[in-house]
Amino acid sequence: MTFKPFAAPTALLALGACVGRQSVLDPAGRDANTLLTLFAVMLAGLIVLWLAVNGMMLFFNKISTRHYDESTARKLIVGGGIVLPTLVIAALLAWGLSIMPDQRAPGDGLRIKVTGEQWWWRVEYWPEGAATPIVAANEIRLPVDARTEFNLTSAYVIHSFWIPALGGKMDMFPGRETMISLEPTEAGTFRGQCAEFCGASHAQMAFDVVTLPQDDFDVWLAAEAAPAMATDGAQAQRGAEVFLAEGCGACHAVRGTEAVGQVGPDLTHVGSRKSLGAGVLEPTIANIADWIAHTDDLKPEVEMPAYTDMPEDDLMALATYLKGLK
Ligand code: CUA
Repeated sequence: MTFKPFAAPTALLALGACVGRQSVLDPAGRDANTLLTLFAVMLAGLIVLWLAVNGMMLFFNKISTRHYDESTARKLIVGGGIVLPTLVIAALLAWGLSIMPDQRAPGDGLRIKVTGEQWWWRVEYWPEGAATPIVAANEIRLPVDARTEFNLTSAYVIHSFWIPALGGKMDMFPGRETMISLEPTEAGTFRGQCAEFCGASHAQMAFDVVTLPQDDFDVWLAAEAAPAMATDGAQAQRGAEVFLAEGCGACHAVRGTEAVGQVGPDLTHVGSRKSLGAGVLEPTIANIADWIAHTDDLKPEVEMPAYTDMPEDDLMALATYLKGLK
């Protein structure tokens, strides 16, 4: 038998690289912190058990020269193989269940409904007492030090909603609503990712999460609720005409204009978002033009058709218009 005492610790060292805006090891929320504590305790237990098991193997095989009778061996197997794991796992289960209810706790007022689409996120903010939602897409903003309730569902297939830096994941089912609540503790920008295989572009179903102090969040939400600002500049004006002439408004809404489509992402404030295509590209004018002309190259099987034949001038005007929708 090969004895490799450092194989597991070396693998764990590699986890040290797992920090950043999409990491469970770098929490920025109360729920993610709880999960990290659970992970740390289990990891510590794993290390103790690993040392104990390997230490015993080393001791009985290499160090001790004594002969042990059958009753000692039986005690060791029953004690170390049945009693100890039962006690340890029962204790871990009881403790784990006792710290979990927070992520099912009701929110402090704001509710956000998120629907998993192919492959993007429909986001609806429901402030307390609101009769209609504030609709957005592919980006979620949250107030810091407040608990926000998420009502999750899906249009076609099962997705999973996950913001690793803020908390655990929750599945999204067609025809059913699931719930999770999250409480960010730090302001910053994080990344969410679909965590359930949902088709060709599953890996490209991401979103940005921006956490803000409550006052800044309130200001942002008021701006998000407002219709699109008047289009500025000749090229953007032309882009607005292209948008309507090409029929973009059949699928996309730009509140305050004739475009009221509900099939694709709401574009009212698309120019202020931190990414394009649900986490696929930087939202520059060139990338927006590239996206419109090559959707299915950039995101396999996406429902939006690629406008490969659109003249370059129209494409750039359209991209300029969209980037201007702040
Ligand atoms: Cu949606 Cu994977």
